[in-house]
Amino acid sequence: MVSSMSSSAASSDREKVVSKLPGWLRQNLKIRAAQHGIEIQAAVEQGITDWCSLASTPAPIDTAGADSFSTFLPPGQWDEFRQAATDRGVSLIQGLAQSVQLWLDTNPTPEIERPAITRRIVVCNQKGGVGKTAITAGLGEALAEDPNSLHPVRVAKALTKALRASETHDDPETGTDPLDIENLPGPGLRVLLVDFDPQSHLTSQLGGSPLPMNGDSLTNHMAGDPKGALRDLIIVVDSEAFDGRLHLLPACHDAFLLDVRLSAVRAREAALERALAPLESEYDVIIVDCPPSLGLSMDAAAYYARRRDGERPGQSGALIVVQAEDSSADAYELLTTQIDDLRGDLQVDIDYLGIVVNLYDSRRGYIATSSLQGWVDIKDPKVVGLIGDLKEQKEAVRVKKPLLSYAPKSQQAVGMRALAREVS
Ligand SMILES: Nc1ncnc2c1ncn2[C@@H]1O[C@H](COP(=O)(O)OP(=O)(O)OP(=O)(O)O)[C@@H](O)[C@H]1O
Ligand SMILES: [Mg+2]
Repeated sequence: MVSSMSSSAASSDREKVVSKLPGWLRQNLKIRAAQHGIEIQAAVEQGITDWCSLASTPAPIDTAGADSFSTFLPPGQWDEFRQAATDRGVSLIQGLAQSVQLWLDTNPTPEIERPAITRRIVVCNQKGGVGKTAITAGLGEALAEDPNSLHPVRVAKALTKALRASETHDDPETGTDPLDIENLPGPGLRVLLVDFDPQSHLTSQLGGSPLPMNGDSLTNHMAGDPKGALRDLIIVVDSEAFDGRLHLLPACHDAFLLDVRLSAVRAREAALERALAPLESEYDVIIVDCPPSLGLSMDAAAYYARRRDGERPGQSGALIVVQAEDSSADAYELLTTQIDDLRGDLQVDIDYLGIVVNLYDSRRGYIATSSLQGWVDIKDPKVVGLIGDLKEQKEAVRVKKPLLSYAPKSQQAVGMRALAREVS
């Protein structure tokens, strides 16, 4: 954990105390401290201070099986605590357990921060095979992860370090040392993934099936010809791992005809918005996996991600996935030109949420590092994610499981979580 460095610096004027704590209490303390973004030693200090100033001893705690626990406290606090425990006739272990429990009770799990306006993230690039679908899934999974447990996240500074390494053509992967991993609670958001690509890769990747051609579909809703409620088409993804928070609107092959069907519709660019609007109240984030094309559907997706009245910049917008190789640059130009045109024609603000460089393989040497540098040099939008070319992604696709539940500790998963925090 990166904070351990700062804590050892801050610990120099503290004294180390060694005692015991039951495993479950230690685990609760660890998670709750991370949820509040404070260090464990600060939580224990607060708990002990409060415990010492109580007028009477709180209820006893089952300390069976307590094992070694050490922390750092301000000088003198432990002596004061020892005195209070003696006065109350409780053991140090019991007193410490009560202090920690007291801190937990006075610092409950924080509420999930939900956006006032459902965030809309459009993952796009008309270049095929760059990883739009992989990033859509990984980002959605990372945003939906359990807020009551800790997950390894690559800290933001590791990205900066990797990008700096690319400048000097060093191997960015060497920058990934254990100190660059932090264990953080999941954001716990309600996420809807929209498979907006007739190829329906996202749908099959997550274990779903494309919707039957003669039934209802997003295409029908966009064309103003619904056969039912759109929410009835939604499926829950791996409800165990994501506790029912991650949903998918599957694709239907009828989307191949979307541009034709939309040609008869008024205000076509608003068609996706009209279709998805009724679902928004049920989600914190909606992520749209775009097809590799620049047709009407791309316009509708970009329009959907425009900044709404009262929405903070950078909450919704386009996330551009590129591959760390030179040939992606032309595709990038075309895409941003189309988005910029749409901005101008319709007089709307469409924010770029950043560039994700995917399928990065430092073993490709200079080609890889120099093209990564090319993406970094764009600066506006900036690179917000760097995901390596690693086997776990392909394995997860093969077994049709979400990457973050299939390989939760993989470098890719750790990078997806970093991306999720970077775009938040
Ligand atoms: N970081 C990665 N490491 C390894 N394999 C990856 C990675 N990202 C994507 N892939 C694989 O590369 C292939 C293309 O990825 P993906 O389908 O996500 O791209 P896409 O941009 O959505 O493609 P399309 O344009 O066809 O929609 C898939 O087989 C995917 O599993
Ligand atoms: Mg795709």
